[in-house]
Amino acid sequence: MENRSQWGTRLGFLLAAMGSAIGLGNIWRFPYTAYENGGGAFFLPYLFALLTAGIPLLILEYTIGHKFRGSAPRSYRKISKGMEWIGWWQVVVSFVISTYYPVIIAWAIMYAYFSLGQQWGGDATGFFVGDYLQLGDPGSFGAMVPSVLLPLIAVWVVAFFFLGRGVKKGIEVANKIFIPTLAVIFLIIVIRAVTLDGAMQGLDAFFKPNWSAIADGKVWVAAYGQIFFSLSIAFAIMITYASYLPKKSDITNNAFITGFANSSFELLAGIGVFAALGFMAVQSGQDVSDVATGGVGLAFMVFPEIISQMPGAGFFGFLFFASLVLAGLSSLISISETYIAGIQEKFNVSRGKAVLFGGGLAAILSLAFATQNGLNLLDTVDHFINNYGVALAGLFEVVAIAWFAKSLKSFQNHANSVSDIPLGAWWRVCLGIITPAVLGWMMLQNLKTEVT
Ligand code: PHE
Ligand code: NA
Repeated sequence: MENRSQWGTRLGFLLAAMGSAIGLGNIWRFPYTAYENGGGAFFLPYLFALLTAGIPLLILEYTIGHKFRGSAPRSYRKISKGMEWIGWWQVVVSFVISTYYPVIIAWAIMYAYFSLGQQWGGDATGFFVGDYLQLGDPGSFGAMVPSVLLPLIAVWVVAFFFLGRGVKKGIEVANKIFIPTLAVIFLIIVIRAVTLDGAMQGLDAFFKPNWSAIADGKVWVAAYGQIFFSLSIAFAIMITYASYLPKKSDITNNAFITGFANSSFELLAGIGVFAALGFMAVQSGQDVSDVATGGVGLAFMVFPEIISQMPGAGFFGFLFFASLVLAGLSSLISISETYIAGIQEKFNVSRGKAVLFGGGLAAILSLAFATQNGLNLLDTVDHFINNYGVALAGLFEVVAIAWFAKSLKSFQNHANSVSDIPLGAWWRVCLGIITPAVLGWMMLQNLKTEVT
């Protein structure tokens, strides 16, 4: 049993962890979340959330994986028999995400191609929902949309290929290719964006601090929510990835590197996105606040318009959507690995079978998002996963470990026995008190907005 798969190098593990963390959340979620929640002032709650919850939880998850050397369900089971379900909860949340995340990657593949000739013409929004997605009536599935289905199949083929090859030869290799490429592409895009006319207006809007936002509880909830989603914590991912670490591996230092790399990428994305939005505002004689948005609307409705107005449109459009594809694929591989590892251990089957059954089921379910009702369905599922699935998963995790199993002290010792940076009592305070309090409050806020 002790011939568990391992990462080939420390860098391999780090790139895989960064590959999971760096995703659509950095590119299209962070910029607008920051802008909406205080602009420059958002960095205060954001950094606070990174240091009190993000990095401490990363350290916790790396420690759990490293110590118990199992998938999330098995690792929780080793903490306490009654806790296996927390691992499965997190795996299921990841599984659900893995049914719609690949659909967005599929859109991005098609849009990289559409970019070359700016096929959306003069009406990018109409093109996206009408011509491309063929969006139908909400509630009815309608027909399959071939222009979504075909790239979706391609996404799964690539994911299965790397997942099937295993940790070192598959996941590590994929991230060693994707992440450096992504970094280069992204730098080119950001440099182009900040040298466009109007970039400064965009950056002004992005960084202008609205200090009164700091007094608003919602802004803090947004900061913690962003950190959780962005660092892929409480998704079973980081436990699974850390379970493949060799015994002599630094934990704390690796967590800091992952956390700061992800946030740097986020900041870079914020600069690039708002520079581009400033350009668009100036071109169309609008204010940045008229064009600022995030998510699907930003990537597939606003960005195509920006691309069309840019010098070198085809080239930069292609790079932008390629960056979404690379960032998305490395995240998709990480979410899928949670249930592949879980199934392998639970049912004692080979990796190949686990990929076939787990990934196969996710792939089949993902077809529902390639229908004419795909976008509506995606919005609904994403809303519930984001507002309840993740917050609850994180809450269960910290409460179970800090308050029921009372494991923090022994985990601290474990992390300290292999790490350069020694953890102090602050780490236990962050996980035992601050994080549960914030997550509990977050759940209540989400429920409250749901009923009003
Ligand atoms: N962390 C990824 C991002 O920022 C998103 C993600 C969440 C990926 C959960 C996998 C699982 O985009
Ligand atoms: Na991220």
